[in-house]
Amino acid sequence: MYVLGIETSCDETGVAIYHSEQGLCNHLLYSQVDMHSEYGGVVPELASRDHIRKLVPLIKQSLQEIQLTCNDINGIAYTAGPGLMGALLVGATTARSLAWSWQIPAVAVHHMEGHLLAPMLEENPPSFPFVALLISGGHTLLVQVEGIGRYQLLGESLDDAAGEAFDKTAKMLGLGYPGGPKLSELAEHGTPQIKFPRPMTDRPGLDFSFSGLKTFTMNTINASEKTDQDKADVAAAFQNAVAETLSIKCKRALKQTGLKRLVVAGGVSANKQIRASLTEMATKENAQIHFPRPEFCTDNGAMIAYAGCQRLLAGEQQGLEIYARPRWPISELSAN
Ligand code: KG4
Ligand code: ZN
Repeated sequence: MYVLGIETSCDETGVAIYHSEQGLCNHLLYSQVDMHSEYGGVVPELASRDHIRKLVPLIKQSLQEIQLTCNDINGIAYTAGPGLMGALLVGATTARSLAWSWQIPAVAVHHMEGHLLAPMLEENPPSFPFVALLISGGHTLLVQVEGIGRYQLLGESLDDAAGEAFDKTAKMLGLGYPGGPKLSELAEHGTPQIKFPRPMTDRPGLDFSFSGLKTFTMNTINASEKTDQDKADVAAAFQNAVAETLSIKCKRALKQTGLKRLVVAGGVSANKQIRASLTEMATKENAQIHFPRPEFCTDNGAMIAYAGCQRLLAGEQQGLEIYARPRWPISELSAN
């Protein structure tokens, strides 16, 4: 079964074709970063308009590259939420209309389920059950995963998501958008001179809070002479604090659930130090750890095609309605 995957929830237009037995056939990504960087962040209306321009040409290119035609496609998976409403609607209307005209099923995919399942595209995929840490621009979630659609929320951020904290801190340091990768680059030139707080690690529970860390960073920058070295040191201290906080909470989640397998996904999981720190913790805990390859940590069509394929194989599909949900708790998903 060939599944076309479409991702348009934010600022990347992603398209992929996944085959249920052969695996990923190809994937294409168009990033809107250059367009939004002028404004210092994502402008939702511009994002929607750009998805309209890029999506259909990307789908055509994707089919051509692997010499398929629309007649070969057996289902379409699209990100239905969470995300920006206008951007989601572009993917949803395109997917639903193509599925109708090609007379094949369409399935609405939850963006965070896509991230959660992204490590399944790797050579050594995790088996169920596992603990998943999902760290993206909009969400920070710890989830106990028993199988596809069987998700129990263990903890989440009470304020900023991890990626959001990276982006806002990067802005304070005068770095452009998208802040996460830029801050991480700068941190490589710094050493953490001041120990930043590890928020909510001194009390029980698996929730996160990153907004206090942001304020602490702001105060530290203001108290410094703001030299390039000061900024690099702040970036390193901030990154260290996030990495250690995530490790402490994941270790706690493994203990609480008794599980020995951890999956880490979402844009922030591309961060080298966070990967290293979580890997070190998992090794000490005798737990397996799985990440997607860096290009599948951030938004992409491949994870949506994969997640949609599993749901289609399980018999799920949407009716003819155009389904888009900007807010959609992952705990509302169910197995088929
Ligand atoms: O998963 P994603 O691509 O989109 C959402 O679903 O939100 O995540 C984007 C987030 C952004 O906040 C971005 O700054 C962050 O992931 N990010 C990183 C890195 N690469 C992307 N944060 C830290 N280090 C990175 N290398
Ligand atoms: Zn994402």
